[in-house]
Amino acid sequence: MKEKLQSIKDKALQQIGVAEGLESLNDVRVAILGKKGELTSVLKSMKDVAPEDRPKVGQMVNEVRAEIEKVLEEKKTAFEKKLREEKMKAETIDVTLPAKKPMVGHRHPNTIALEEIERIFIGMGYEVVEGPEVEYDYYNFEALNIPANHPAKDEQDTFYINKDIVLRTQTSSTQVHELEKGKLPIRMIAPGRVYRSDEVDATHSPTFHQVEGLVVDKNVTFADLKGTLQQFAKEIFGEDTKVKFRPHHFPFTEPSAEMDVSCFKCGGKGCRFCKGEGWIEILGCGMVHPHVLEMSGVNPEEYVGFAFGVGLERIALLKYEIDDMRLLYENDARFLKQF
Ligand code: DAH
Repeated sequence: MKEKLQSIKDKALQQIGVAEGLESLNDVRVAILGKKGELTSVLKSMKDVAPEDRPKVGQMVNEVRAEIEKVLEEKKTAFEKKLREEKMKAETIDVTLPAKKPMVGHRHPNTIALEEIERIFIGMGYEVVEGPEVEYDYYNFEALNIPANHPAKDEQDTFYINKDIVLRTQTSSTQVHELEKGKLPIRMIAPGRVYRSDEVDATHSPTFHQVEGLVVDKNVTFADLKGTLQQFAKEIFGEDTKVKFRPHHFPFTEPSAEMDVSCFKCGGKGCRFCKGEGWIEILGCGMVHPHVLEMSGVNPEEYVGFAFGVGLERIALLKYEIDDMRLLYENDARFLKQF
């Protein structure tokens, strides 16, 4: 028995000695001390030992076990220490390396242009309001004098939520909301996102932004409209900017016009920027149609109004001389940082 225990111990110590890592160490432990291990089976065969010898043999087994466990534990601690040291080495931090700078964002050209427009109109006493992007067909079309079969509805095809609800095609719908509140006079601008069923190209996008303007008061005239928009053009494109109004048609204004600004690049002589025209179209406007006032509960005998709608991207693209609208939506920080 004694020789057997001695040989188990020698074998165990030899195997522990050559073990190369925690895993092989564990294999040794299982093979010797585990449930089916060699030393355990010696304990199990105690019943074959003469009763008077049992305490002695038991004590020997325990001593061998304790010794193997001790050596196993020492070796395990040594392996763990080595592992920890290797890990620490691999994770060394070079405190002299330059720090990574956090990426700071930049205001979008649309946002910069919008803040500029808001500043100009707030300066003239306007209020900034907002309306819903998901809108009743009534507010987007009907109440703006665009009945169901009107051809203007074709030009502004949009996304229908259902028969009565659309993604608004124009911020002009906010005019109706403001008129319906019945708080007069009105002097407001309403910026926001609009939607059209358009293909993406350098000048089109299915979502873009407009800034609507509406003034309703007694004794408002077309001269007020012209003066206001001329002042706006000068502030946004420079003091030398001239404006030109061309007759146009919008269902919700009468008379209606489109406003051009003199090309701020060539001063009106004609260049690549204004496609040789000397003028650049920037907005639609007109005197609010009496029918529009009436439908929203404002008496057209007593009140008059003018309105305008500017494409925000158009202003941003012109102001920053960007030639492709798609760049505004990619949000590449290298592009945005330039403005
Ligand atoms: N809503 C028009 C559009 O989307 C722009 C517009 C034209 C707005 C004339 C107006 C206006 O308020 O008076 O093309």
